[in-house]
Amino acid sequence: MSKTKISYQCSSCNYNAIKWLGCCPECKQWETFKEVKTTKTTGLKKTKHHETSLVSLASVETQNKKRMLSGVSEWDRVVGGGIMPSSLLILTGDPGIGKSTLLLQISNNLAKQHNVFYFSSEESLQQVKNRAERLDCLNKNLLFSDQADLESIMAIAQKEKPDLLIIDSIQNCYTSQTQTTPGSIGQLRESAFLLMRLAKENGITIIVSGHITKEGNIAGPKTLEHMVDGVFYLQGEDRWQTRVLRSVKNRFGTINELGFFQMQQNGLQEVPNINQHLIEQVSHSPGSVLVSFVEGSRPLLLELQALTIASKLGIPQRVISGIDHKQVVLIAAILEKYLQIKLSTNDIFFKVGGGFKIKGSSTDLGIALALLSSYFQIPLPKKSIALGEISLTGQIKPINQINIHIKEATKFGLEQVLVAKNQKFEKNDCLIKQFSSVYELLTLFENT
Ligand code: TYD
Ligand code: MG
Repeated sequence: MSKTKISYQCSSCNYNAIKWLGCCPECKQWETFKEVKTTKTTGLKKTKHHETSLVSLASVETQNKKRMLSGVSEWDRVVGGGIMPSSLLILTGDPGIGKSTLLLQISNNLAKQHNVFYFSSEESLQQVKNRAERLDCLNKNLLFSDQADLESIMAIAQKEKPDLLIIDSIQNCYTSQTQTTPGSIGQLRESAFLLMRLAKENGITIIVSGHITKEGNIAGPKTLEHMVDGVFYLQGEDRWQTRVLRSVKNRFGTINELGFFQMQQNGLQEVPNINQHLIEQVSHSPGSVLVSFVEGSRPLLLELQALTIASKLGIPQRVISGIDHKQVVLIAAILEKYLQIKLSTNDIFFKVGGGFKIKGSSTDLGIALALLSSYFQIPLPKKSIALGEISLTGQIKPINQINIHIKEATKFGLEQVLVAKNQKFEKNDCLIKQFSSVYELLTLFENT
């Protein structure tokens, strides 16, 4: 028996409703609902299914595909040691941050060994040429088109089978396969689905760019992130025109891997020795402490800066950026409780140098020392770094992976490491100062 059912579907995002609605509850567009008729068969129906055969994994042949190395090592590292062939990746970031610049530089390099098609759906070929001349990216094997129709792009890709396909940007492409409006969430979802199939079925590696919307997501709600193999954010740093490339999702590598670039006249230039830059910014003054923090697979040497000053307000201010507000407040409370210093009547200003955001308890000791150093107006020992956790009882606790941090610190000329009493570490050239509880930290501020 079959029954016809009427429902209503949003033409922008495919949201289904049983009644006609003026405004779509999902994408908030007005007057987008259209009537759809569906025929439902009730009762048991005999349907023919294709036979499925099951296999044991031992009989599945795997190909060890070689990753695509662009030679831009900051990019190669962030994508997991070169791009995994047949993967679909998204590069995203604010408009004007440098996505097209980076994609052009990468594809120009990869075109030396691979067939690369670059679809510029956002800019005309003249605009792309201007940029390519400026970047000296004029490899003859890199082919361009300003086609924005996804069906046409897919047809040519299926025919020519390039190794790498760039679509800059996905938001400017349209597909006629769905009834949704171009640029809508439904359309983006559909496009990503089609591109994923294109990548897997034809062995084509695809990178698409997408800009972040006002709400801070790629094309509205994190629509595409779960559908692709890797998501990479290009973000701006206020200082020295730095651009940070971060892996947010990567099926073939680690997440939170960071790559550093500087935007210059001739495009994005790599900054391979970021710690050198960071160390150069560090001042040896009261309130400043160096810590090491692992992002992805490499440690960053970061300066914590604290300023404590007697408050003129009833409720003292806590102005904290780059680090969890509660973590700083908690460490201040521990210091106040066990060392009997009056931080609660002080305003506390706290930030992480270089505009970085960090998370985790391995910076507890650094936070405590920055606060104490500012409170007593005495700087910490020169060329020192603090690595340790602090418990609620005021004990200094060891941290994991300490050797990576010490190695990096030594590489950049640091000479003293401040750690927990029972911290275990490999032999090294640094002077190691160990503390079992917060009481012992006071010894650093005694003799002046
Ligand atoms: P672009 O790659 O177009 O950004 P997106 O694709 O993310 O929107 O880069 C835009 C900015 O970068 C633009 O303001 C100009 C600047 N730029 C340089 O400073 N140097 C360069 O070599 C290039 C190509 C761009
Ligand atoms: Mg662009």
